[in-house]
Amino acid sequence: MTSHLITDIGELTCVDAESRVLHDAAVVVEDGTIAWIGAAADAPEADGRTCAEGRAVLPGWVDPHTHLVFDGDRSAEFEARMAGESYAAGGIGVTTEATRAASDERLAELVRGRVADAVAGGTTYLETKTGYGLTVEEEARHARLLAGLRAEGLVDEVTFLGAHLVPAGRQAEDYLDDVVGPMLEAVREHVDWVDVFCDRGAFDGDQTRRVFEAGRAAGLGLRLHGNQIEHGPGVAVAVEYGAASVDHVNHLTDEDVAALASTWAGWDAAARAGEPGTVAGCLPACDLSTRAPLAPGRELLDAGVPIALASNCNPGTSYTTSQNFNVGTAVLQMHLTLAEAIEAATYGGALALRAQDRVGSIEVGKRADLHMLDAPAAIHLAYRPGMPLTHAVWRAGRRVA
Ligand code: NIG
Repeated sequence: MTSHLITDIGELTCVDAESRVLHDAAVVVEDGTIAWIGAAADAPEADGRTCAEGRAVLPGWVDPHTHLVFDGDRSAEFEARMAGESYAAGGIGVTTEATRAASDERLAELVRGRVADAVAGGTTYLETKTGYGLTVEEEARHARLLAGLRAEGLVDEVTFLGAHLVPAGRQAEDYLDDVVGPMLEAVREHVDWVDVFCDRGAFDGDQTRRVFEAGRAAGLGLRLHGNQIEHGPGVAVAVEYGAASVDHVNHLTDEDVAALASTWAGWDAAARAGEPGTVAGCLPACDLSTRAPLAPGRELLDAGVPIALASNCNPGTSYTTSQNFNVGTAVLQMHLTLAEAIEAATYGGALALRAQDRVGSIEVGKRADLHMLDAPAAIHLAYRPGMPLTHAVWRAGRRVA
């Protein structure tokens, strides 16, 4: 057994059920797991030692929504948006074409680079998905690539998003025959989740139900893109099927918020126990890049709906993996407190991936995923937006940045 002490932590944000923030603290990691938390003055001996010199430490970010398998450039589409165009899902086809043309080696290199960027920004648990293949062969190729990276410990959760867009030249129902048939069959051994883009220009409520039925029968967890472009059935379908999360949520009615809140009736928030409901995934970088109304994180929290902050890294709507940016923006623009924003980017993401018993907080027995800032307090994430604040990152106790 090897142990490592991280001591002289100026501010330790645990994100535990008591929302503890300790000062002059220390953490001991044993074999990749958090073994002890307390006052630096009381810390036990360990084989190795890192002195934080008064810096702040928080849990590594959990990013529950990314699309990292892509090639090609869509900066012109972004520029047109900044000049007044609105986002329409059609750009997915542009990326699909470029991604299909990329070799396995190139795609793997691109994904590795994006994961490295995420880790360098403090992300230690990451979901990513297919969705720019949109043929049986290509979706299977992307799923295999991601499963290989998961086996290496580079990504943690893999999602099948064959229902991202109806590809050019296909009819929706005919394409969905593939998605729920041979495509699902080809990817199911490689993926953990099935996802659908349920919105104008992509798939409707009944089409989403069809994919959910098939995904659930294949043993996959359910998650959804919904209510991004306009108000639609996304949240209602996510609630109906008990999806782990519905992400984007820019256009919500009071009924949607109430429906999401109702899914948490079996969850004891104080004890963090019971049956979790549907998390609302808020994607502030995407909202800014598409000039969409910011997801109503404040209202959702006030209604009792746990939220997750995610990067949604993709070439169309959110070309960033920075959770530091999202946390700062959530405080500055979404009116979350610092503690709420940090929780949404750690424990909230873990809940959205049903990984809350393993990651998402600094607690004895959890995986030692730690993020040290080059600042004495975590509020610097909002106070100094855009500054390179990540000083060190440990994933399962191993220093990765
Ligand atoms: O989550 N909304 C759907 N999918 C992505 C965007 C994909 C694209 O435009 O390439 C998203 O924003």
